[in-house]
Amino acid sequence: MKGLILSGGYGTRLRPITYSHQKQLIPVANKPILFYAIEDVLEAGVEEIGIIVGPNKEQVMATVQSQDWDAEIVFIPQDEPRGLAHTILIADKFLDDEFVMYLGDNILREGIVKHANAFAGNNYDASIMLTEVENPEQFGIAELNYDGTIKRLVEKPKVPPSNLALVGIYFFKPVITDACNSIEPSWRDELEITDAIQWLIDNGYEVGWTKVDRWWKDTGKPDDILEANRLILDDLSHEILGEVNCELRGRVSVGKGTKVDENSVIKGPALIGSDCEITNGYIGPYTTIGNDCEILNSEVEDSIVMDSAKLINAGNIVDSIIGRGAIIEKNKSLPKGRKFVIGDTSWVRI
Ligand code: DAU
Repeated sequence: MKGLILSGGYGTRLRPITYSHQKQLIPVANKPILFYAIEDVLEAGVEEIGIIVGPNKEQVMATVQSQDWDAEIVFIPQDEPRGLAHTILIADKFLDDEFVMYLGDNILREGIVKHANAFAGNNYDASIMLTEVENPEQFGIAELNYDGTIKRLVEKPKVPPSNLALVGIYFFKPVITDACNSIEPSWRDELEITDAIQWLIDNGYEVGWTKVDRWWKDTGKPDDILEANRLILDDLSHEILGEVNCELRGRVSVGKGTKVDENSVIKGPALIGSDCEITNGYIGPYTTIGNDCEILNSEVEDSIVMDSAKLINAGNIVDSIIGRGAIIEKNKSLPKGRKFVIGDTSWVRI
């Protein structure tokens, strides 16, 4: 089986972070979201992976190539995000065999091995993964027959026929290319993978499904990124490589070269990267701090602070995503007041 991982698209719901960061490279628990997808695909025994790249393609390629992966990886450029089914058409030459398609902004706790085995063992033409969600209007949704087989699939329905969402991981035989060639663009002008799978059902092909047992996250919005961070930190192992002189509560991981003074407090689960300096700081539960960060006289909780950011006399920061190299500090000069240099479409709650 081959792997097709999608790392294109504009990630508009995650601006301004996605102006400088391709969405799938945003770190969750200090690891690019895309790497979780690559690891899952490798774990399922895939040895050849095609990665769809669009905006910021050089950034995606450089980040992926910065690691040694146990697979051959090729990058397939997409000119514009024309839909999930469109990515199959442009990857046609690479996809000469069965494949798993994995949306690079999805994180699945249990991995895909069980689901890949079900696909291989049942001789399906396609197999999808379903899970119950509270907001079915925001996903592709499956309606089942009484016998549990799939009756129909509908993309982001206004009136959902069920709460069973399509997870962004799909298994296909090459016939899916015929389906992608046969459908028309949707109201959002995209070739929808949901419509292509519906085409398989309508044309008598076997489409199976498996149920996701543990958590799954589509990291489309800032709250989803923070939630994914919390879920990953729930499984964090306690490991102290840096020089930590303060009180630690719960599971905490601190990277090499990081120094934490005796006046600080860290409450886990919390993950702190390498070469950070934390002085008189409070790092609260469900916080991830990147590498080379400085936290001075500041408190941060339930947040992601990316590499090289600085929080200096910054007060109490909660539920936040702080981008690389960002600085938050108390204004000490006159005139008094709040001073900002922030990017387009940023949002700040004060
Ligand atoms: O996450 C699960 C959902 O993913 C499914 O329930 C839906 O049925 C499916 O259509 C998809 O919906 P989204 O609206 O979340 O898809 P999105 O446009 O966010 O694209 C998913 C990923 O694929 C994202 O990482 C960007 C990438 N992408 C997207 C498009 C449209 C590409 O690389 N190229 C594209 O043309």
